[in-house]
Amino acid sequence: MSNRFASKVVVITGAGSGLGRATALELAKEGAKLSLIDLNEASLVETQNQIKAVAPNAELLLLTADVSNEEAVKQYVEDSVKKFGRIDGFYNNAGIEGKQAPTAEYDSNVFDKVIDINLKGVFYGMKYVLPVMKEQQSGAIVNVASVGGIRAVHNQAAYVASKHAVAGMTKNAAIEYGQYNLSINAIAPGAIMTDMVVGSLKQIGGEDGWEEAGKAFVSVNPKKRFGKPEEVGRLVAFLLSGESEFINGVVIPIDGGQSNQY
Ligand SMILES: NC(=O)c1ccc[n+]([C@@H]2O[C@H](COP(=O)([O-])OP(=O)(O)OC[C@H]3O[C@@H](n4cnc5c(N)ncnc54)[C@H](O)[C@@H]3O)[C@@H](O)[C@H]2O)c1
Repeated sequence: MSNRFASKVVVITGAGSGLGRATALELAKEGAKLSLIDLNEASLVETQNQIKAVAPNAELLLLTADVSNEEAVKQYVEDSVKKFGRIDGFYNNAGIEGKQAPTAEYDSNVFDKVIDINLKGVFYGMKYVLPVMKEQQSGAIVNVASVGGIRAVHNQAAYVASKHAVAGMTKNAAIEYGQYNLSINAIAPGAIMTDMVVGSLKQIGGEDGWEEAGKAFVSVNPKKRFGKPEEVGRLVAFLLSGESEFINGVVIPIDGGQSNQY
């Protein structure tokens, strides 16, 4: 086991589930000190329990916050710096899918909510973490886009808009802050089996048909399967580790190759 995060502090949003939790586990195993942010306190405690099982000495800070609330974001960044003194890595991951519907039928309130969390939440996160990293003259950020940030997805106007915007905003921050020795990238996961994807499949196939809907979904994936959260965790670990400093301003698909095919 390598120890790339032995002296590093990483802030993770959406750390109570799915990709956030899996990444927290990967980083903790490699010695990271972690500030874990989520709306849902109980889910953060569960993440903590899972981390303690694999990395008993991990230093953790659990913070309940809504990433769509700018004051709450300012606070979680301040609290993280107060506890650990610095921020080396930021996994700007919290997000929601929204309710699926064709564009003309898309509920405007749901649209606003998806934009508030997926886009503004990521913006606020960068807005308050970037000055900390600029001052340090080091740091890496991974924003979470999606294949929906580089391709269209039926019935997901708000999600696709928010994730395309995250991809664009990532490139912007990367060209602005590269000169301060920061690396800012986005990842574009395909379907990775998490609670969010189960929810999405239930919207497509219903309570009884979601597993069938899942099989149909992956039948057109070159790898014929869903991705695993820990596979995303390992990519994020590489991007935050310092081993990839010259990678800056890119959106990296992790989707079994699915987004390449016509
Ligand atoms: N799972 C996939 O296949 C997939 C694919 C592409 C992109 N993504 C993106 O990855 C990220 C994580 O998704 P996941 O699959 O792990 O989902 P998930 O639902 O399992 O986890 C998301 C976590 O974010 C938290 N969260 C939601 N809204 C929040 C808010 N306003 N403030 C703070 N925390 C909040 C939730 O409580 C939850 O713990 C999202 O941005 C999602 O869009 C996921």
